Amino acid sequence: MRKKIVAGNWKMNKTPKEAAEFCKLMKEKVVSDAVEVVFCVPFVDLYPVLEELKGTGIGVGAENMHFAESGAYTGEVSVQMLKEMGVGYVILGHSERRQYFGETDEMVNQKVKKALETGIVPILCCGETLEQREAGITIEWVRIQIKCALAGVSAEDAKKVVVAYEPIWAIGTGKTATSAQAQEVCHAIRTVLAELYGRETAEEIRIQYGGSVNSKNAAELFAMEDIDGGLVGGASLKEEFVSIVHY
Ligand code: G3P
Repeated sequence: MRKKIVAGNWKMNKTPKEAAEFCKLMKEKVVSDAVEVVFCVPFVDLYPVLEELKGTGIGVGAENMHFAESGAYTGEVSVQMLKEMGVGYVILGHSERRQYFGETDEMVNQKVKKALETGIVPILCCGETLEQREAGITIEWVRIQIKCALAGVSAEDAKKVVVAYEPIWAIGTGKTATSAQAQEVCHAIRTVLAELYGRETAEEIRIQYGGSVNSKNAAELFAMEDIDGGLVGGASLKEEFVSIVHY
């Protein structure tokens, strides 16, 4: 059985002080045996969040990283830096990074490999634009994103990856994909994973849905056969996150 995983993606929100205060308020309320809970936070919030969540079992993730180990990459953060701090997860290939910072499938692939090599769980994002959905190419597009991102990743490593299906038109818009729409694509993702790694491995890989997840729609979405939890943006910044975790 796949353990559900609910991760918050704070994006560019909360200063270090606000982050520590929020975690202090939330930590006891979001602890769960049934669900793996992760807070993915801005780089500067990692230290206070790690300190505040120490010993709670709540995971801490970054929202990005560079694929190089070190070097002349002004403003970037390496996977070793994250590892040494005690970060366990990293969101990779989020559509906002692809859209505003020119991240390509190749870059995402290099980052996924680097994270796996270092022992950090990649939360690998994929998803289509509204135009792509309307053109009927959602599944084809997502299949390509998954294949590119996982090129050269072994079956053993693929099991550690968490895939997040986030339709771009549903991010921050309040427009959630219906549970049937989300299930259809998450099922297609599991199918491509089975083609790459075999059915058994594909059945072990967790696939989240992301895009306007809230306390009202979480239960229905997470009950779908191929949806193993959520990647939550806006609602993870508020106390509402508690009811999403305990959906
Ligand atoms: O990564 C989470 C995400 O992009 C969804 O954001 O605000 O629609 O839940 P939101």
